[in-house]
Amino acid sequence: MANASMRSPDPWIHGRSEALAGAPSDPFEVIARAYAPVQDEVDVEVPITFGAIPRDLSGTYFRNGPGRVSIGGDRYGHPFDGDGMVVRFAFDEGRVRYRNRYVRTRGFVDEQRAGRMLYRGFGSQRPGGLLANLGRTRFKNAANTSVLWHGGVLRALWEGGAPHRIDPRTLETIGVDDLGGLLRPERAIERALAPEHAFTAHPAIDPRSGELWGFGVIGGPRARLAIYRLDAEGAPIERRFVALPRLAFVHDFVLTERFLVFLLAPIAFDLARAIVGLASPVDALRRDPSLGTTVLVVPRDGGALRTIEARAGFVFHHVAGWDEGTREIVIDTLRMDDFEGGTIDVLDPAALRRVRVPRAVPTRMIVDLATRRVREEVHIDADVELPTIDPRRRTRPARIAYAVARPSGWSAISHPAIARLDLASREVHMRDLAPDLPGEPLYVPRPYAPEGEGYVLTIVYRAETHRSELWVLDARDLSTVARATLPHHVPLGFHGTFVPS
Ligand SMILES: [Fe+2]
Repeated sequence: MANASMRSPDPWIHGRSEALAGAPSDPFEVIARAYAPVQDEVDVEVPITFGAIPRDLSGTYFRNGPGRVSIGGDRYGHPFDGDGMVVRFAFDEGRVRYRNRYVRTRGFVDEQRAGRMLYRGFGSQRPGGLLANLGRTRFKNAANTSVLWHGGVLRALWEGGAPHRIDPRTLETIGVDDLGGLLRPERAIERALAPEHAFTAHPAIDPRSGELWGFGVIGGPRARLAIYRLDAEGAPIERRFVALPRLAFVHDFVLTERFLVFLLAPIAFDLARAIVGLASPVDALRRDPSLGTTVLVVPRDGGALRTIEARAGFVFHHVAGWDEGTREIVIDTLRMDDFEGGTIDVLDPAALRRVRVPRAVPTRMIVDLATRRVREEVHIDADVELPTIDPRRRTRPARIAYAVARPSGWSAISHPAIARLDLASREVHMRDLAPDLPGEPLYVPRPYAPEGEGYVLTIVYRAETHRSELWVLDARDLSTVARATLPHHVPLGFHGTFVPS
């Protein structure tokens, strides 16, 4: 078996990350070790250490996440600021080839050259106190949140800036991608501040048309939401702007057959404080008790938008959403009662111990467009994140979802379990892997088979070996079909995609 590692010639690589001796039993230590920076880039065939890769699993799995949260002696203030490292698993005839590569953003390259932190981030201030941050309006595009395959192009996404185009075979960074000009600001003053508008890490592909819908939040005195649409081949179709009632962090949205729906959380954002450098953006967020959640309903066809007030809640991810008749929209979302602001040093177990992350509970919201009311109830009593569904079910009623989960009694920030949620029967099946830590469980349906059959792919951090493994699970019951062991660990990451071959 060809198992030789091909090292990248890039000068920044200075050796393979060392396996750490001894396995910690404390979950906070496990999480801190799981975030240890990755120092090598490899291209290897990985050994199958359990079971066999199914022959009908054919294609490539890409996933993004922060490969490093420190440089030199400088630590980033939040895992959201970690430099994007894309991993790639190519499945072919039962074999798996693995590759990892950092996205060569301008910030990554500059900091690599300097050997220290140069940029501010979502939760990171530059070392050196106020003077080192005052007036620094350039933030690093971390390119770390997701990977998008659309129109034959692979992109690394980060919601605060433009995507980076990535070679799907080598994972080399091709460059910043403005989506055929869609992200280019109209006004020179805007271009001076940022050469491209932001593009979400959660765009949505309409399974019927193949069109891609995305958005970006544009700050400033009059906050706006940019909405973007590309055709199935990736050519730009449309860009429009919607006025926001307030500057809001919007991480995800719901695409139905008729609408785009955004939830604006009751968070006040002290933009001036963040921009001038007095605080990192995450430290400039405050819950505003006078506000509820605003539901913004934007018709796909360009009709008038509606805003409807709902109970205050905080959401990173939606699970599914669809139109129910002509007057209702159903949204299955992961609702938190509160939000966790502030910086997080994920390399420090003591700091991790202090972090309180509210439960994210599968909640059904029914938006009544006629009465302008929102009904809301807990749909499944669980604490889950990073949900995935059958991509063929997007815009329509989805039944089965997969997510990472925190079993009751588990208080640490990361999720040691995988859950299969039945949104119709409201049953949840959970598989607890503690002390190991799985990443996003990506559902890969088997072609022509019903929803909920096929495979779930996840990258699991193994506490005992300080290595990560690719796990292939049976989508029906989360039993293990196969495991492949990587030559190093992959820090806990965010989102991925599967491209069938
Ligand atoms: Fe996300």
